[in-house]
Amino acid sequence: MDDTELLFIQPGHTLYPEELELRYRVLREPLGFPRSAVTFPFEAQSLHLVLRQGATVLGCVLFNPEDAHGGRLFQMAVSPPLQGRGLGARLVIALEEELRRRGFTHVHLHARANVVPFYERLGYEVYGEPFTEVNIPHRHMRKSLASSILPGRRSQEA
Ligand SMILES: CC(C)(COP(=O)(O)OP(=O)(O)OC[C@H]1O[C@@H](n2cnc3c(N)ncnc32)[C@H](O)[C@@H]1OP(=O)(O)O)[C@@H](O)C(=O)NCCC(=O)NCCS
Repeated sequence: MDDTELLFIQPGHTLYPEELELRYRVLREPLGFPRSAVTFPFEAQSLHLVLRQGATVLGCVLFNPEDAHGGRLFQMAVSPPLQGRGLGARLVIALEEELRRRGFTHVHLHARANVVPFYERLGYEVYGEPFTEVNIPHRHMRKSLASSILPGRRSQEA
């Protein structure tokens, strides 16, 4: 698995159709939604991080910047045979690194209820009331990206 590469792409990249195919197969087809339900209105303005192995996209995660400080992580998917091997966590951690580099301080997301523990392991917390999206139960979750550097800053200020 060390011949894989994390790559930020945009619609128009040669890997984008592969990314859309993965999103369809993992996030939409199992729920009975058509291919037309894969894309979002804010597709072009979003960051698309893919984990590639050659011309194959094994996983992806997207981020829509909603203002200068934060935005929404969405379309988190790992190829089914490769789930549970740390690839999802690798994608989120790499996305967060890039977001910090760009000056973003917080991330929120709509977590499917069954994957709340995946995001909790990565430092996200549930907030607000449960809700339904794509016909399944979801929870709002969020994380402050600044939190990992705050303890150092605090000790410097103290
Ligand atoms: C959810 C998903 C992205 C996680 O990616 P993954 O590569 O399978 O997860 P990882 O192997 O990186 O897991 C990281 C940790 O989270 C845990 N975890 C992952 N999915 C979990 C789940 N559904 N429930 C509980 N824990 C989970 C893993 O056990 C692992 O724990 P560890 O750090 O103690 O080893 C992936 O399983 C997937 O694509 N699922 C289907 C689509 C989906 O639900 N996407 C999210 C929409 S909100």
